[in-house]
Amino acid sequence: MSGIRYAAPGRINLIGEHTDYNLGFALPIALPERTVVSYVPDDVPEVAVRSDKEDGEVRIPVDTAPGDVAGWAGYVAGVVWALRSAGHRILGGTMSIASDVEMGSGVASSAALECAVLGALTSAIGLRIDRTELARIAQRAENDYVGAPTGMMDQLAALCGQPRMALMIDFRELTVRPVAFDPDASDIALLLINSRAPHQHAGGEYASRRSSCERAAADLGVPSLREVQDAGVTALAAVADPVDARRARHILTDNQRVLDVVAALEESDFTAIGRLFNASQASMRDDFEITTDHIDLIADTAVGAGALGARMTGGGFGGCVIALAPLDTAAHIADAIRDAVAAAGYNAPTITRTRAGQGAELLR
Ligand code: GLA
Repeated sequence: MSGIRYAAPGRINLIGEHTDYNLGFALPIALPERTVVSYVPDDVPEVAVRSDKEDGEVRIPVDTAPGDVAGWAGYVAGVVWALRSAGHRILGGTMSIASDVEMGSGVASSAALECAVLGALTSAIGLRIDRTELARIAQRAENDYVGAPTGMMDQLAALCGQPRMALMIDFRELTVRPVAFDPDASDIALLLINSRAPHQHAGGEYASRRSSCERAAADLGVPSLREVQDAGVTALAAVADPVDARRARHILTDNQRVLDVVAALEESDFTAIGRLFNASQASMRDDFEITTDHIDLIADTAVGAGALGARMTGGGFGGCVIALAPLDTAAHIADAIRDAVAAAGYNAPTITRTRAGQGAELLR
């Protein structure tokens, strides 16, 4: 059989953090960096997979089950399992993976891998599934095979991304609406500052935030915090535990900030968007408590040096900060961040200018 190449990108989230599993709103973009799976399908009972980042080959039985495969190949095995569990036929064969999406840096390298593998496997059998269902299958791989209790934002961003567009996602309605996002046209650089402090979501902090939100919703007698979005933060007075109440406040206020950023994008008002970034950063720092001193230093330094706004992006506890920088101050902002981080004794960051890229696609 002839080979298939399928690509899926990493993502950054512009705003709306930890809102996905609370059935709220988020606004991610796909990144230009992608994971490419080259797959030669064959009617054999296993998939043999290699990665350009790892030594050796991992053999995944097509009837794999959670617990069989750990490490990076667990994401591949998870997709094989989730697709098969959804009732679809899986071919074996050989897969090789090449990626320029940095792992463990908060840009959703795992979703890029899941979605590229899913695209390759479904293309091999000519299976067409809509993108929300694909996202659900990829999320299942991550939740139930790998064991990371994440939401669906990363997969939807990887699958639905478009150049010069952000994706307004409503996780209750499961709708994805592209909205124009082109800071370049306003002489603004979107800086991606990778702290190079690794993070991971199978760890306890992500799960504990999720539990707090679920407890808060239970106290309020609703299935998800989305149901009290319109009532506003005063509704949270009925949440028993003050920490849970603060966590929930972050969710409601960040949801509103997503809507406000979408409205500001219609006017290309990047000054307003910058202010909303800063408010989100403060909310993640003070209410949701998912930033670190290192991340706060990067965000504060960016704003102090002239950024319109800066915030951590992704699940938290390390990873990346994004900043909106007027073009003529971008180099100065980057230098200020490098100096501040060095003076505090942290790893040197990598700082790049980025833009919204293409979502998952079959490569010809
Ligand atoms: C990680 C998860 C997403 C989402 C973000 C936080 O990236 O994979 O589902 O919860 O954290 O917004």
